[in-house]
Amino acid sequence: MSVDLLLTGANGQLGWEVARRATRSLKALTRADLDISDRSKVIEAIAMSKPKVVINAGAYTAVDKAESDRDTAFAVNRDGPSYLAQACTRICATLVHISTDYVFDGKKAAAYLEDDPVAPLGVYGASKLAGEEAVRAALSAHVILRTAWVFGVHGNNFVKTMLRLASERPLLKVVDDQRGCPTFAGDLANAVLAVADRILERPADHLFGTFHCVGGGEVTWCGFARSIVRSRVPVEAITTAQYPTPAQRPSNSVLDCEKLDRVYGVKLRPWQQGLEEMLARL
Ligand SMILES: NC(=O)c1ccc[n+]([C@@H]2O[C@H](COP(=O)([O-])OP(=O)(O)OC[C@H]3O[C@@H](n4cnc5c(N)ncnc54)[C@H](OP(=O)(O)O)[C@@H]3O)[C@@H](O)[C@H]2O)c1
Repeated sequence: MSVDLLLTGANGQLGWEVARRATRSLKALTRADLDISDRSKVIEAIAMSKPKVVINAGAYTAVDKAESDRDTAFAVNRDGPSYLAQACTRICATLVHISTDYVFDGKKAAAYLEDDPVAPLGVYGASKLAGEEAVRAALSAHVILRTAWVFGVHGNNFVKTMLRLASERPLLKVVDDQRGCPTFAGDLANAVLAVADRILERPADHLFGTFHCVGGGEVTWCGFARSIVRSRVPVEAITTAQYPTPAQRPSNSVLDCEKLDRVYGVKLRPWQQGLEEMLARL
């Protein structure tokens, strides 16, 4: 039986929200249902369900672990989307694929545009970039949505970590020299579904390509932490050098989302509103 939408990575922060917000016929597949790095399973699952749009929310997202687990990161983040795109080609489906701000090196002073030069700083970013390139090479009917700093009710994320630490420690120390756009997974899911809806209504060439999709506004991790914990504990600003991690991260992760608004009329609300909703739902 054919469906409008097939979703991979359905148990992730984004996938979970997409599955519960979708109003069209949807086949939601978790990693246990479909490992996207398994080419024959991907081809078979898509050929059987014959979706019009495939949404890939599955990814290897452990940024630091990826530095020592390169093969798995590339198998999931490059080969997975490549197989999905190949499978879509066979049944003339569109692939909506999610990518990341970490394809950039963060050295630009202003917000990043879709066509700005890419230069990932770590293995995760490199594997996601390779996934973007594989999708573009295999399938013209694709939408790549680059997002950033995702937080949701379901799954682990910075918001939940800060809330836990605030209940355990008298003081939090958080980096204040990395700037980005926190993105509520529910808002991102709405955007993904709005994009899929437009394509289902009437696919057109101008709808395809690469778009940025993040919460409105920008903040540093330290500023974000202060908004999360409010006055429960003080949050001290530190530098990236004071908090070394295996993977280097861009100091500027801010993405310009004007293109998504212009082409699709989709614009995410300010990140603070997404945070309010998440805190209320927790
Ligand atoms: N989180 C962020 O801050 C962030 C920032 C920028 C971009 N993104 C991108 O946004 C998208 C959604 O991220 P998210 O925050 O929802 O990530 P997430 O919560 O880590 O979810 C990723 C999902 O992918 C699944 N997965 C892992 N390997 C898989 C495989 N081989 N086959 C199928 N599924 C697999 C995971 O399964 P399990 O549940 O079994 O682990 C998990 O459910 C990803 O493309 C990510 O790269 C995220």
